[in-house]
Amino acid sequence: MQTFSLSNGISIPAIGYGTYRVTDHNAEALIQTALQCGYRHIDTARMYGNEAEVGNAIRHAGISRSDLFLTTKVWKTCLSYDDTLRSVEASLRDLGVTYLDLCLLHWPIPEKDRDQWREKDLSAWRALERLYAEKVLRAIGVSNFLPHHLMPLLAKAEIKPMVNQLEFHPGYCQPYAVSFCQAHQIQVEAWSPLGRTRVLEEPLILELAKTYGKSPAQICLRFALDQRVLPLPKSSSAQRMQENLDVFDFSLSLEDISRLMTLPQLGWGGNHPDTF
Ligand code: A2P
Repeated sequence: MQTFSLSNGISIPAIGYGTYRVTDHNAEALIQTALQCGYRHIDTARMYGNEAEVGNAIRHAGISRSDLFLTTKVWKTCLSYDDTLRSVEASLRDLGVTYLDLCLLHWPIPEKDRDQWREKDLSAWRALERLYAEKVLRAIGVSNFLPHHLMPLLAKAEIKPMVNQLEFHPGYCQPYAVSFCQAHQIQVEAWSPLGRTRVLEEPLILELAKTYGKSPAQICLRFALDQRVLPLPKSSSAQRMQENLDVFDFSLSLEDISRLMTLPQLGWGGNHPDTF
């Protein structure tokens, strides 16, 4: 699997398996299937409620811990120094691991005292910085932070965020946020890179699928990769999990990327970081 390099030099597999809503009785089996298909980068979150299942799946997979890249996130009810420390401790316990490859603040605005988001983000960030210094976290970052959320954090951070995970797919590719991150050496990851299937019937995507001899989902994943954005597709089928990894033998022309970039807004998930 191709990798990207984060600003602190660590490698991250260029596609990850997204586990949002992988929570039913089948969760552990699904994550095991993803590992069997070749995924080595698993993206979870405290809020997804599946860290124990992810932990069981990786323990039973017979893959060495150092060959896996594990990400989790701190939920927005925990945006304080102590609560973030406690959240990461609980994640480590439930996942059954001694370190995480990446930990993100999940959303920028806290559940309570929303107008104090700058202070709260910074105090949670201080906790991630401490855990990074203690080598409990190999990399730290944020999720759903727009440039105006990142600016106050970047001004005070001792360790800059290495990743920002954003909603990103054709029809919602947030070019200003992506270029801001790239200018600050922040790796962008894409949640819902397939627009939760809402974009797969778009005529332009169907046309490009035909032109390149690929599926609409593969066009969306390549669209992310061609812009150095790391996609985290979800799937509950082994065949589609495999299909979603089979995107390293082609790339889109600049002209086709431009056509996808300039589609009218399509398939937005509906949560804006300022109001969610
Ligand atoms: P399924 O679980 O049946 O595979 P996103 O990652 O953008 O949130 O999208 C997830 C959705 O996309 C799921 O409903 C998933 O359905 C579907 N999906 C995943 N991979 C593919 C694919 N290769 N082709 C079509 N749909 C896909």
